[in-house]
Amino acid sequence: MSGEENNLESRVQVLKGVKDILPDESFRWLELENTLHRVMACYGYSPVYLPIIEQTRLFSRGVGEATDIVEKQMYTFIDRGGRSISLRPEATASLVRAYVENGLCKTESLVKFYYYGPMFRNERPQAGRAREFHQIGVEVIGSLSPFVDVEVIVLSKKLLDEFGLGTDAVIKINSLGSQEDKAAYSNILKKQLETLKSKLCDTCKERLDKNVLRILDCKDPNCKKLVSDLAKPCDSLSKESQDHFEEVKRGLDNLGIKYVVDPYLVRGLDYYTMTTFEITHPNLGSQDAIGAGGRYNNLVGELGGPQKGAVGFALGVERIILASKNVVDNKAKYDVYVSYLGDEAKRKAFKITQELRNIGVSVFFEFEDRAFKKQFAQANKLGVKYVVTIGEEEIKEGVYSLKDMTSGNQEKVDFNSLVKNVWRILKQSAQNGRI
Ligand code: HAM
Repeated sequence: MSGEENNLESRVQVLKGVKDILPDESFRWLELENTLHRVMACYGYSPVYLPIIEQTRLFSRGVGEATDIVEKQMYTFIDRGGRSISLRPEATASLVRAYVENGLCKTESLVKFYYYGPMFRNERPQAGRAREFHQIGVEVIGSLSPFVDVEVIVLSKKLLDEFGLGTDAVIKINSLGSQEDKAAYSNILKKQLETLKSKLCDTCKERLDKNVLRILDCKDPNCKKLVSDLAKPCDSLSKESQDHFEEVKRGLDNLGIKYVVDPYLVRGLDYYTMTTFEITHPNLGSQDAIGAGGRYNNLVGELGGPQKGAVGFALGVERIILASKNVVDNKAKYDVYVSYLGDEAKRKAFKITQELRNIGVSVFFEFEDRAFKKQFAQANKLGVKYVVTIGEEEIKEGVYSLKDMTSGNQEKVDFNSLVKNVWRILKQSAQNGRI
């Protein structure tokens, strides 16, 4: 084995399904985050920062013991104190825990929260599916009103619009009904499927006993065909659940939000009741859900709080990035390039660079000594608006050469007019939303 191969083998690499976010993408991430905060402020939602590790039983109780997430996908370990801890696979359960634990259920009649952060699921990685991924999430707790369902769906669409993905996104909605409706429907479906058990795929045979609703969104064509002839969740909705769903649809119609009703839409988390929704995007491959959510009217109660209506959703950040095809803004941008020749000029150039940065101007400074020609070529490549030059002549005269790269005009200026000119750039940048 050559020395290089040996080195390659011993080099520590990033884990499978986990990714570094470098500047070819990181500016897009930042832009998404900035947009998120702006939109949320407009809708009156407050940011929350939640722990990444939780007690494992939060998720087995909250998300559901018989879900794929809890059964197969959690990163769970025993810590030094012998406690079972899990990296969060999602944040709704954490948020509800925080809501109950911090007594917000007693002091606030309604909370509207949002979060942005990493989640962890040990799934087989593929395009759009990672082991560490990020979600933008929104949760409203404290209301049973169907108007909240509508607001939350509209908000998910608004975010996708702002990210440039709203036009092609498809919103699918369904209602699973109350906990009682869900239980009644599960019994009916189970009875109907028991006679057909031999025809189900192996996974669905197991689901029949553990979590029969999950059979509805099995991708196996045989299972799909089988369930298409059977009862649907909407057949078991109580009058109250039906009215709620009708009001949600009316609300969306009223606002001109397009959606399709998918009567087989059940989600992989057990806490959903009543409205559920999923948003798909055609730019994604087989993992085409860019976001999903719904009501979870029983979760607060299940995690030790009072009975409270709640609804929310999460968008997958990696999938948003993947679906955004025409994004170009992926480099740090500079307004000014400070060029120099000689040691004394370099020190002066470095000082003026810091002074300009102190007043908020973004400045590129080349650390390595280069010929002026090379520096100007670099400035051109970076697309800066101004180049400040300090050479022997400028040092002697105690001035700076300032070149406007758009007009090509060059003039010698003293420190004050340099700052005045640069202030003008600063103002323009502010108008363009850069600062
Ligand atoms: P979820 O459907 O499990 O829901 O995830 C929401 C979104 O996260 C998905 O639509 C997808 O965009 C993204 N996502 C999920 N798993 C992965 C993965 N392995 N790799 C990349 N992206 C992924 C929830 O997590 C619920 N907590 C949403 C919610 C909030 N419901 C009510 N409130």
